Amino acid sequence: MSDAQERLRSVIVGCGGIARAHARVLAECDEFDLVAVCDLKEDLAREFAGAFERVEPYSDLREMLERERPDVVSVVTATDSHARLTIAVAQAGVRGICCEKPVATCMAEGREMVAACRKHGAALIINHQRRMGPPLVEMRSLIEQGAIGEVYLIRGSCAGDILSDGTHLIDSIRWLAGDGDVKWVLGQVYREEPDPSEARSPGYTPSGGYRYGHPVETGGMGVFEFTSGMRAEILCGGVQSPGRAYHDCEVFGTKGRLWRQGDRADPPVLIRDARGGGWREAPLPQPDARGRAMANSYCAFARTIREGTAHPLSGDSALKGLEVLMAVYESARTHAKIELPLRQDSFPLGLMIEEGRA
Ligand SMILES: NC(=O)c1ccc[n+]([C@@H]2O[C@H](COP(=O)([O-])OP(=O)(O)OC[C@H]3O[C@@H](n4cnc5c(N)ncnc54)[C@H](O)[C@@H]3O)[C@@H](O)[C@H]2O)c1
Repeated sequence: MSDAQERLRSVIVGCGGIARAHARVLAECDEFDLVAVCDLKEDLAREFAGAFERVEPYSDLREMLERERPDVVSVVTATDSHARLTIAVAQAGVRGICCEKPVATCMAEGREMVAACRKHGAALIINHQRRMGPPLVEMRSLIEQGAIGEVYLIRGSCAGDILSDGTHLIDSIRWLAGDGDVKWVLGQVYREEPDPSEARSPGYTPSGGYRYGHPVETGGMGVFEFTSGMRAEILCGGVQSPGRAYHDCEVFGTKGRLWRQGDRADPPVLIRDARGGGWREAPLPQPDARGRAMANSYCAFARTIREGTAHPLSGDSALKGLEVLMAVYESARTHAKIELPLRQDSFPLGLMIEEGRA
């Protein structure tokens, strides 16, 4: 590695569930040198750092930034803190920020994050890692080759709420649709009365009607149309497609279909087309599909930071996905079909709760 290609000094903020996946990639990838981690819970940071060689634990972000002078910061905290922390890190003068999905809890915060990173010269990516994994890369390539004719519908289903989990579906669908613009969105959500004795969850498991520090619905669905005319449908949480696994994605074309039956167990990409004979496996060019998405993303990020190359997970791209997502909630709030661009800066589900309608 030349001087110009010294390893990028990297740190992680937030040592919870998904942080280990980031740490593993950063520790194993030649491009990065994981030097420190930070969590408000001091013990957690110490234990997390202890699993790696020469990684310093911190409980204060500012102290970590001042002492370690990182090139790259991974923001892996609950969603309600993404904007605040990403902006603070950008202001500190780093070269790159990988923030976890979803971008933020509303459009206003998301736009502020992207603008702050641009202003301070930090490359920003949002970790919708699935589009960097071989299955979705192969599905998009098959679509582009015309393997199933003209795509007219993509349907996705997952457990969880639209903001935390549906965000992956929307990002994957946008990827499969060639990242075209979305014209309109129609959505509906319902929220069961939370147990008032439960504390509001700051993390993965919903409690008190909250998850990752923001309110969540019990079930939600959205339909949207791209300017190309292609339609998409998402079904989440309480209305997820029965019998389908997490992040099930089916693509309907005029000459055939593609189907990935979820992605927790790393199923193959299935295809059926004019050859007949029902579903068959579409061979993937790379093995070990599941573990590669985040590694592929970080490797591409190193090139983005060094050479300014475009990254498929850019903040600008994620902001477009967030707009679709927020439009699903806004449609539910207003009982209207929402034409994009969305004119709602706040989190519509939060507004519905304030208005006593969710
Ligand atoms: N890309 C994916 O597949 C994927 C999977 C799971 C979670 N996520 C996202 O990752 C984020 C984190 O999820 P998680 O399940 O790891 O959450 P978690 O609650 O398990 O961990 C978050 C950690 O951040 C720490 N923290 C909060 N504020 C902090 C601060 N100011 N400074 C330092 N530490 C702070 C908390 O103490 C906690 O330990 C969420 O936004 C979630 O949506 C993404």
